[in-house]
Amino acid sequence: MLAKVAVVGAGNVGATAAQRLAEKNLARTIVMVDVVEGVPQGKGLDQWQSGPIEGFDTRIIGSNNYDEAMGADVFVVTAGIARKPGMSRDDLVKTNAGIVRSVGEQIARVAPKAIIVVVSNPLDVMCYVAMKASRFPRERILGMAGVLDTARYRTFLAEALDVSVQDIQAMVLGGHGDTMVPLVSYTTVSGIPITQLIDKSKLDEIVTRTRNGGAEIVAFLKTGSAYYAPSAAAVQMVEAIALDKKRILPCSAWLQGEYGLRDVFCGVPCRIGRKGLESVIEVTLTSAEREELHKSAEAVRSTQAVVDA
Ligand code: NAI
Ligand code: 2OP
Repeated sequence: MLAKVAVVGAGNVGATAAQRLAEKNLARTIVMVDVVEGVPQGKGLDQWQSGPIEGFDTRIIGSNNYDEAMGADVFVVTAGIARKPGMSRDDLVKTNAGIVRSVGEQIARVAPKAIIVVVSNPLDVMCYVAMKASRFPRERILGMAGVLDTARYRTFLAEALDVSVQDIQAMVLGGHGDTMVPLVSYTTVSGIPITQLIDKSKLDEIVTRTRNGGAEIVAFLKTGSAYYAPSAAAVQMVEAIALDKKRILPCSAWLQGEYGLRDVFCGVPCRIGRKGLESVIEVTLTSAEREELHKSAEAVRSTQAVVDA
């Protein structure tokens, strides 16, 4: 169990992640920080009072400043806004970059040894902003997207095959967007290559549905985006850190030559433990998958340029 985990942004993803962290007994204290007065405090109190029922002793505290989060081991960053009418994608990038930059600076002030798990969108670029603002090494900046995208892919495959989702092994790499790369060549069902179990057109349909997984939910919700699966994904990453599990999870990492990519955040298989990113695992990709990964990284790089401008 960690001593303290902080969640920045007490909205849908942040508050659900805080509750899941407590229910999994991953931290003695959880601090939720948000700019809206009263919301983190009220949600935190309500969550804390679920402890006797759910069986956790974690203290959940809400705050409008970072002092309560002093010395936290891990920060989950979910602060940000969604696109509003009249805003371009670049406007959103700039607004959220401003928010994540200030969050990164505050984290560096109160917890210079923390590990940051970024959730805010656009994910890969917000990792870059958090890294620059905090000046943390790449080992301590991880982006959550691949775990979520892979969960969506596995869910759709399990339904199509009518098998347990637990038996589907898969990984979705690349940037978190419509250029993401579900790795068909590494998708297996209890070790059986997926191509032996499903026809190509159905598999293509599932890959497309995975790429549009976030948009499919936004189209239903209309006023917000997914948060149950995203919070579960972020908490799985925190769990790997808290319990030093050495899990191999697809996370956005600052690449330094791996997969032929440099100075860009992109989703790749990562070994995650108590030190954060403990290594990037390089696997052999088909030439089509490698090309798609590079295309996806270039899409991230062009948005990265917007925040540098
Ligand atoms: P939300 O709107 O419910 O919550 C965002 C919270 O951030 C709000 O409570 C807001 O007051 C707070 N906030 C804004 N500025 C802040 C600041 N400077 N400091 C602290 N808090 C601040 O949004 P939701 O659904 O929780 O999503 C959060 C972010 O996560 C969005 O950017 C969303 O696009 C992203 N997201 C990313 C996913 C991924 O796979 N990486 C999946 C789902 C969401
Ligand atoms: C998602 O994929 C909005 O990025 C978020 O659901």
